[in-house]
Amino acid sequence: MLIGIDSLEIATPELYLDMTDLAVARGVDPAKFHTGLGQDQMAVAPATTDVVTLAARAAAAVLDRAEEADTASLGLVVVGSESAVDASKAMAVMVHGLLGLPEGVRAFDIREACYAGTAGLMTAVDYVAAHPGRTALVIASDLARYGLGTGGEPTQGAGAVAMLVRQDPRLLVIDPASTARTQDVYDFWRPEGESVPRVDGHLSNRCYTDMFARVLAAHQEASGLGLEDFAALCFHLPYTKMGRKALAGVLPPEEAEARGLGHLHRRYDDSLVYSRRVGNCYTASLYLGVASLLDHCDLRAGDRLGLFSYGSGAVGELVTVTVVEGFGARRDPGATVSALDARRRLGVEEYESVLTESLGPVGEDASATLLPDEGPYALTGVVDGVRRYRRP
Ligand code: CAA
Repeated sequence: MLIGIDSLEIATPELYLDMTDLAVARGVDPAKFHTGLGQDQMAVAPATTDVVTLAARAAAAVLDRAEEADTASLGLVVVGSESAVDASKAMAVMVHGLLGLPEGVRAFDIREACYAGTAGLMTAVDYVAAHPGRTALVIASDLARYGLGTGGEPTQGAGAVAMLVRQDPRLLVIDPASTARTQDVYDFWRPEGESVPRVDGHLSNRCYTDMFARVLAAHQEASGLGLEDFAALCFHLPYTKMGRKALAGVLPPEEAEARGLGHLHRRYDDSLVYSRRVGNCYTASLYLGVASLLDHCDLRAGDRLGLFSYGSGAVGELVTVTVVEGFGARRDPGATVSALDARRRLGVEEYESVLTESLGPVGEDASATLLPDEGPYALTGVVDGVRRYRRP
């Protein structure tokens, strides 16, 4: 049975900060952010945009595109996220409510830093395999925030990617024989009750590149697939230089050219177009890269792609997918670019106020916040710990 992703949609906040502005304000050479990290802009979420509203927006776009039969067969909604808003209640249940999904749909969250979206995706593949004819909605949604003036500040961002998983998908077929590795390490973590993660940035870089090399080698041993078998590789993108470093670690650009594998480096660039403008969105970052690759690369039906997922803590997984005939008709790159172009550019002072406000506890009435979200879904307030949302 062929199972995979039938559609994939993105949602990002309507505000952004230009990385040159941030560099100037912090007294840093802008080239460090644009070239050293590979980031041009950073999505900024106001207090009324949270991980649930972003997830709802991306999921609504997927359901708008879905066939009626696929919506009627929906049996599972999974949210993978690092940015949980409640220690007990699943955000998938809140999204289920906002979208008005049927009671018969199972809804739950998965957590393991930036890996949780992939955990959700592979769970959905298993679910569809076990329940032929059913569909699953997988949502990766996160607000990546480290705080003002921190080392991680230029690697912040926000966004969600939603995917419909079904039999005979029209975008990407997923090979269930992926390769995963787990290693107990503290490179990035967020103790319960804290609003921003703690991170050992340089250790996290090393853990990421080591994990990629080990997962790739293990995948090659298990599947017999080597680098020459992939048309392109997509990476988890905490900042766009990160995947480039990991790829160069196993395949330096000169060696790639000599072995006829230069396309892996060139196509890596095609996978960065959205992330350079959005920044990190933890669980969603890998899939933002997949969307960018599909929208900007000369891929053909039958091409095999490798997707490297990394979640600090740490879990890494290499998933093999195959491009389906007619996949281009399932994407609308113009709409994604228009949405990014339509965002409002913040000055640094505004960004600092918005970030400070959004990291604080939200009160009963969020309508008086600095820059409320005017979109279809918004957090309107929190009363007795109960989150209240506006929906269309
Ligand atoms: N012009 C061009 N390049 C410059 C430059 C300049 N003027 N100045 C510096 N650079 C380059 C550096 O040479 C360096 O490049 P290389 O990595 O290729 O050597 C790059 O810019 C970054 O410079 P530094 O390492 O000095 O930057 P930093 O000390 O400020 O830290 C960081 C960078 C560790 C990524 C930090 O931003 C951070 O902690 N971010 C959060 C953690 C993170 O994103 N980790 C990624 C792996 S973990 C993961 O993937 C999970 C997740 O999502 C968090």
